[in-house]
Amino acid sequence: MNNFWDERYLEKEYVYGKDANVFLKTELDNISVGRILFPCEGEGRNAVYAAQKGWVVDAFDTSIEGFKKANDLAKEKRVSISYKVADALTVDYPRESFDAVALIYSHFPDTIREQVHHKIITWLKPNGVLILEAFNPNQLNNTSGGPKDLSLLYTEEMLVKDFKSLTTLQFSTEVISLNEGKYHQGKADVIRLVGKK
Ligand SMILES: C[S@@+](CC[C@H](N)C(=O)[O-])C[C@H]1O[C@@H](n2cnc3c(N)ncnc32)[C@H](O)[C@@H]1O
Repeated sequence: MNNFWDERYLEKEYVYGKDANVFLKTELDNISVGRILFPCEGEGRNAVYAAQKGWVVDAFDTSIEGFKKANDLAKEKRVSISYKVADALTVDYPRESFDAVALIYSHFPDTIREQVHHKIITWLKPNGVLILEAFNPNQLNNTSGGPKDLSLLYTEEMLVKDFKSLTTLQFSTEVISLNEGKYHQGKADVIRLVGKK
C-alpha cells in the first residue's frame, strides 16, 4: 500500500490539490484555534491550511513522498507543521494533547479501523473535536476517487460504533461535488461527522 501512495505522490502535481478540503474549512471556522492533528495527511493541504489559520499542527502519514510534498507546501506558504512518517497503528501521541483531530479521507481496513479510531479519541482533550469526511459504500458507483474495496468504505453503523463515546455535533450521509485535484473530481458519496469528546 505504501508503494501505491508513494507512486501517486511522486506525480509533480498535488494530486488532491493544494487547497484544503471544503468540509474541513467550514468546520474549522466553528472552533477556537488550538492544537490539531491530521492523521493520514498525504501531501499536507489540510495541515498547511490549518497552520495558515493559526493552529499548531501535527500530521502523520506512512508515505515519505507525501511527507516531502507536505513540507514543500508548508515552506511555500511560509508556515510550520510537525509531520511524521508513521503508521496509524503504531504512531503515538500523549493522551489529551489535541483540541481537534481531522480525518479527511483516512480509510482504514476493518482489521485496524476501530483500534485506530479509539486511539485517536484518547489523543483528544476533553471538549476536543473530531472532524471526519470519508467515502461511503455508494462511492463504488462513482468515478470521483476513493477506495475500490467495499471493506474500506465507511457506513454510519461503523462510525456510530467507533465514536459512540463522543457527543455528535453533526452526522450526515451526503452526495457532494468534489473538486480536489486530479483524483477527487465530480459526484461523491460521503459521510461527514463532527463529534465532541
Ligand atoms: C486519500 S489520501 C488522503 C490524504 C489527505 N488526508 C488529503 O485529504 O489530502 C489517504 C492517505 O492515507 C494514508 N494512509 C493509509 N493508511 C495509513 C496508515 N495505516 N497510517 C498512516 N497513513 C495511512 C495514505 O498514505 C494516504 O496518504
